[in-house]
Amino acid sequence: MLGGLIANKGTGALKSRKAMLDTLMRHLPMVRLSVGAFVALALVGCSGLIDDGGGETLTAEEQAARTLFSQKAKPVLDTSCASCHSGSDPTVAFLQGANPMEVREKLMSFDPQVVNLEAPTSSRLLTKGAHSGPSLLATQASDLLEWISAERDAANVTGNGDTSLKTEPFTPLLCTAGVPGDPTCPINLVDISSLVEGWAGAKIKFVAQPLSQDLYLTNLAIEGGTEGVYLEHPLFVSVPLDGQPIPDTLDRYFDVKINMKAGDEPQPIGGGSAAFINFTPGNRLAIHFKVVDRYRDEGGMGGGITGATGCKKLAEFKANAKTPLQNSCGSCHANAGNANARGAMDITGVNATDDATLQNVCNQVRTRINFTDTNQSGFFIAPNPAQGTNHPFKFPAQGNFDTFKAAVDVWVQAEKTAQ
Ligand code: HEC
Ligand code: HEC
Repeated sequence: MLGGLIANKGTGALKSRKAMLDTLMRHLPMVRLSVGAFVALALVGCSGLIDDGGGETLTAEEQAARTLFSQKAKPVLDTSCASCHSGSDPTVAFLQGANPMEVREKLMSFDPQVVNLEAPTSSRLLTKGAHSGPSLLATQASDLLEWISAERDAANVTGNGDTSLKTEPFTPLLCTAGVPGDPTCPINLVDISSLVEGWAGAKIKFVAQPLSQDLYLTNLAIEGGTEGVYLEHPLFVSVPLDGQPIPDTLDRYFDVKINMKAGDEPQPIGGGSAAFINFTPGNRLAIHFKVVDRYRDEGGMGGGITGATGCKKLAEFKANAKTPLQNSCGSCHANAGNANARGAMDITGVNATDDATLQNVCNQVRTRINFTDTNQSGFFIAPNPAQGTNHPFKFPAQGNFDTFKAAVDVWVQAEKTAQ
């Protein structure tokens, strides 16, 4: 499909310009359609076709999906979720609506995306698990999945489920030893310029370390290129040579929105590191997106990544996280002479006592929190002796790591709640 290009550090794009243009020309209308897909679905819902039976007709698949929503999904949501998700807090009111079709429409168009038609099983609605609300029972989850899968089929039939906003599958270069940039530890650069017509492009960069069954990405960041970039909801997918693609089971970047001006510093994505479970290291990878565009000069949203804002819980940081970070990590990550460590996580000033300096340190570490699953935050994966990564420092025993984690986690959970 569309030419996502991958190039080794320092080498050029692998695909000819002509081939790129060809794919681009063939897929332009589909790209536009894909960006508008949720708008289109919302419009169908708005006209109340099911209720009054007038106007346009629904396909059999669309009708089936709506019936499944009313008969299977809605009862589950009403029983277990609607008490908190149908109104009082607009940031999570994805079940708001005066009738079932309004609720369906709200749920499917909710931002951040909680129903993912490209990867139904990864939808946040299914993977959220226990939080202030309950986790889903297995039968409830299967009823919801049945509905989402039917919506996916319906969308594919009408073309609204078009998934052309994605890179071509590529084979990631694996880091087996050393630090990023070494011949044994290449930096992957995924060029996404071909996803937008006539665009200078942006690059997603990362280092990929093979674990036994899984893939661990570090230094995961985006470079805006000469025109900047706007993107929403990257979804990493592992693509075996035979068999079904495996989307990120957590859909962990479901609420990521990135808006970068030309010349902005590369920004880490979702904390800059992530362990993708069941991404067999030999598989190819593809990255899907909800939206890809040039930098958007919009009022209210300047450059930046949502979710990557500053630290809100400085008191908890100072009381719980500062000292363990200073003692166990400062020798490298606050060391002017260790550019590699500071490039990965800069805690220069962690031994300071003034709030202004510590606020900066806290902001830095906060960008490494994975808010979707805090256990997967880079600073918990890197030094954990149970994780087979080649980070230069591992706690000598599991107990030492657990103590470090328990302390830092007090602050992490406070940031998560304050998000
Ligand atoms: C007692 C209240 C309550 C109930 C019941 C509840 N939730 Fe939530 N839910 C919340 C709150 C508060 C948040 C926002 C904070 C957070 O993300 O944990 C939230 C956030 C979410 C999110 C947002 C996505 C994300 O990860 O930030 C999803 C999805 C979700 N809930 C799914 C569900 C599902 C599915 C059910 C029913 C099985 C449910 N919730 C029941 C309170 C509730
Ligand atoms: C002996 C020096 C050293 C110590 C001590 C150290 N680190 Fe690192 N760390 C590094 C270097 C060097 C890198 C950069 C390697 C790279 O770019 O992949 C790094 C990278 C990282 C990363 C980026 C992701 C990754 O896995 O590469 C995180 C997160 C991290 N360190 C967290 C920590 C935490 C938390 C501690 C303290 C518990 C710590 N480090 C202690 C040297 C150290």
